[in-house]
Amino acid sequence: MSADNMGCGSSSGVSTGMPADLTEKDKELVKSSWAKFNEGDVIADGAHIYYKLFEKAPEAKEKFGFAKDGEVSLENKQFKAHVRKVLDVFESVVREIDQLEGLLPVLNDLGARHKSYGVPLKYYEILGSCIMYAWDRKLKMDADTKKAWGKLYGVVQTEMKKGNA
Ligand code: HEM
Repeated sequence: MSADNMGCGSSSGVSTGMPADLTEKDKELVKSSWAKFNEGDVIADGAHIYYKLFEKAPEAKEKFGFAKDGEVSLENKQFKAHVRKVLDVFESVVREIDQLEGLLPVLNDLGARHKSYGVPLKYYEILGSCIMYAWDRKLKMDADTKKAWGKLYGVVQTEMKKGNA
């Protein structure tokens, strides 16, 4: 997935990514930008992933226990807990960025759980673009940083989709 096709709602059709795709420079850009993302109210900033997702794909709300019946806002404790869990996945991925191969089974298992949540594979591309939107909203990323995150998300979604297939 390239930086050009990470605008929310776009779809590249490219869904493969491997740990070896990331250069040392990519890893540095991801680590430094993630440290910046974690400054301030990270839950409020991460929540924008889902505000954007539900704007672009309102039907996806039906899948989420916290969104089906209630307002998707920071008043909703379940929603906040979900945002924290998803950000924790990225926390692990960034922490393990130098040995991503070791994390692939964990991502595969996470994907398999998403099969039980009834998540169609097409949503990974959409969610990826919404994650990039939320990061960029806070970080105003340059093109190289966007590209690095695009590669990293490519690894995450490729492995999750294998488990989810
Ligand atoms: C990078 C991609 C994704 C990551 C890192 C991620 C992460 C997570 C995590 C950590 C959970 C908590 C439960 C668990 O660990 O099994 C979860 C639950 C869930 N995810 Fe994802 N997810 C991703 C993609 C998606 C997509 C594309 C959808 C569909 C729109 C989705 C829908 C759900 C649903 C429906 C749940 C259950 C929520 C509930 O309990 O109400 N996820 N996700």
